[in-house]
Amino acid sequence: MEEFDRLMLTIPQPADPEAPDGKDDTENVELKKVGEIRKFEFEPKDHVTLGTELGIIDIERGVKLAGSRNYVLKGDGALLHQAVLRLAQPGIDAAAVRSVLRSWGPGRFDAELLLDGKAFRPDGKSASTLIPPAFGLAGVNMHTWTGWGSVTHWNAFVAVLEMQGKGTLYDPRLDDASKFPLAAKNNFGHRTSDPDLVTPKLGALHFYQLALAPPPAPKGSFDARAAERGGALFEGKAKCATCHVPPLYTEPGWNLHKPEEIGIDAFQAQRAPEDGYRTSPLRGLWTHKKGGFYHDGRFSSLRAVVDHYDTFFNLGLTDDEKHALCEYLKSL
Ligand code: HEC
Repeated sequence: MEEFDRLMLTIPQPADPEAPDGKDDTENVELKKVGEIRKFEFEPKDHVTLGTELGIIDIERGVKLAGSRNYVLKGDGALLHQAVLRLAQPGIDAAAVRSVLRSWGPGRFDAELLLDGKAFRPDGKSASTLIPPAFGLAGVNMHTWTGWGSVTHWNAFVAVLEMQGKGTLYDPRLDDASKFPLAAKNNFGHRTSDPDLVTPKLGALHFYQLALAPPPAPKGSFDARAAERGGALFEGKAKCATCHVPPLYTEPGWNLHKPEEIGIDAFQAQRAPEDGYRTSPLRGLWTHKKGGFYHDGRFSSLRAVVDHYDTFFNLGLTDDEKHALCEYLKSL
């Protein structure tokens, strides 16, 4: 019997024991038919042909890896498979978390992964964001790209949830199971601890963080004359200052915008309670030129950001004006 089991383990995908014996698939027995069988006006292709032609199924490799009747999903096929799994099971295991962490790259983090289990965007790219600057936040309402709350809200959030510190966090927005399935299931919005080692430190930490001024741009790192023209454009023709209000460079008050107001997708916004993006306070931009701009670094240069606004808002900026605006941004 042991020998039988050992041999069976080497046979890929054996037939169900209930299946009747026959010489080949022509002797298969039909058990039931569901619905109307569609008639095509053309010769329909089977899933193997379709999958191979679309480059989403690789049968040769599957057979090499695991024997006959196996296949490997690749490209969009693999993404589709992941999507279906995620639909059925929003949780993720430790190995998956590790591979996700490795996919982020330097300067990036995904603060929402533990809340919603979404490691990838619908286009298959990482769901992580750049880490926003911790300086220049005095006077700024919302902290983080998607405006979860103020600096002190985020400090409590990070200490208690991200770092699993012993403390208190109250944020009933995390009870929204459609947005935050893992947070809701684990009651993340109602954490308490005795002793509470976090809450007593929040005041001093808040005070300290608000005192961090943005470092001034080094002399010679931008063209000062162009920057001056850029400043006039920023507040005039380019209309940047309607949202990035100097000297905070974000709106005093409710500094969040719907994705469509700035011409980008909603994926990351929808992973936060307010479905919006915070107007980035722009001071000290020169310190984080690596990794791109906007929450996910989608624009690789300041010029790409300005080009985006020029197209989206129909600004009609000339090449020279775009250059001047970029020099101004580098000077902040
Ligand atoms: C409707 C409001 C609005 C206007 C007008 C606007 N911005 Fe923005 N800006 C935003 C928001 C919101 C973000 C954050 C986007 C994100 O997080 O992906 C942003 C982000 C940026 C960033 C990226 C900052 C970073 O740290 O990556 C730059 C640079 C920028 N804006 C420059 C400009 C310039 C230059 C103009 C004028 C041509 C302008 N903005 C006009 C709302 C606005």
